Amino acid sequence: MERMGKTTAVANPNIAFIKYWGKADERLNLPANPSLSMNLAALTTVTTVEFEPGLPADVVTVGDQPLAGQSLARVTAHLDRVRAQAGISERARVASCSDFPAGTGLASSASGFAALSLAATRAAGLHLDEAALSRLARLGSGSACRSVPAGFSLWEGYRDETSFARQVAPPEHWDLQDLIAIVSYEHKAVGSYDGHTVAPTSPLHRARLAAVPGLLAGVRSAIEARDLALLGAAAEADALAMHGVMMTSTPSLLYWLPATVAVLLAVRAWREEGLGVYLTLDAGPNVHCLCQAADAAEVEGRLRNQAGVLDVLKSGPGGGARLVEVHLF
Ligand code: DP6
Repeated sequence: MERMGKTTAVANPNIAFIKYWGKADERLNLPANPSLSMNLAALTTVTTVEFEPGLPADVVTVGDQPLAGQSLARVTAHLDRVRAQAGISERARVASCSDFPAGTGLASSASGFAALSLAATRAAGLHLDEAALSRLARLGSGSACRSVPAGFSLWEGYRDETSFARQVAPPEHWDLQDLIAIVSYEHKAVGSYDGHTVAPTSPLHRARLAAVPGLLAGVRSAIEARDLALLGAAAEADALAMHGVMMTSTPSLLYWLPATVAVLLAVRAWREEGLGVYLTLDAGPNVHCLCQAADAAEVEGRLRNQAGVLDVLKSGPGGGARLVEVHLF
């Protein structure tokens, strides 16, 4: 098998309209329910990987920080999967950079593990097809499997072999906009990695899972018909249900800040006035506001005038994980 040497990949994070919250298998990142998301073109993670003979251990830097402890162990475990598939034993040098704040519910692990999976497999001489790459990315971080295909992707499957994401619509299908109201840059106290484990302790977990198939069907037809009201209502319902599960888990996870609630109330008030805007949130305090491209400037302006909003990131649908020629080292 030929080895490519230094390889660099780019991936976008994704925002889920139907969330992945709770696992059927924690080791394999098999989800408790199907999820559906859109990649975010404006946010990127770039990752360079090189397997180096003689290197005693994997050396990983994220931004300008060397990784250590649990985060390093998670990357090394992922590189071990790649080494096992490729039949190599060399340790790797890895550098990864994101152009958006990590650890605030913007799913940096999704773009991170999607880019790492593509760069590492190619650097090891493997050429996986999209499904196999998505499945591999899933083992690093569940939501990363949805950042592998371009545009809008659905992640289903409850066995290791069949659990990966596939595209339901390309990015050009619908110029849906996500305006992310940043109300905090701080690292969340409980990451989604640990949050998933406590989901089943919530009395609301089962109720949310029972509602998912209906909401998912709504989101799928909404994407097909480019129907924002249908998409927004379902996405908002599932995000609030997920936060209900989080708040009522043991221990209770409360990701919202006062400014989060202020944005939720403002979005509802704007909708009452006739502006087409809906919201969703990941495991963090920042609010993703979904609207049609024609309303994006209006929504952005209103969010920027909202007390407690520190910044607004704006993104349409993004591409899949892809190789690039410029390396980080
Ligand atoms: C709230 O994919 O970060 O963003 O599989 O343990 O790495 P692990 O979890 P992760 O969970 C993402 C949770 C979420 C919802 C979503 O993106 O679907």
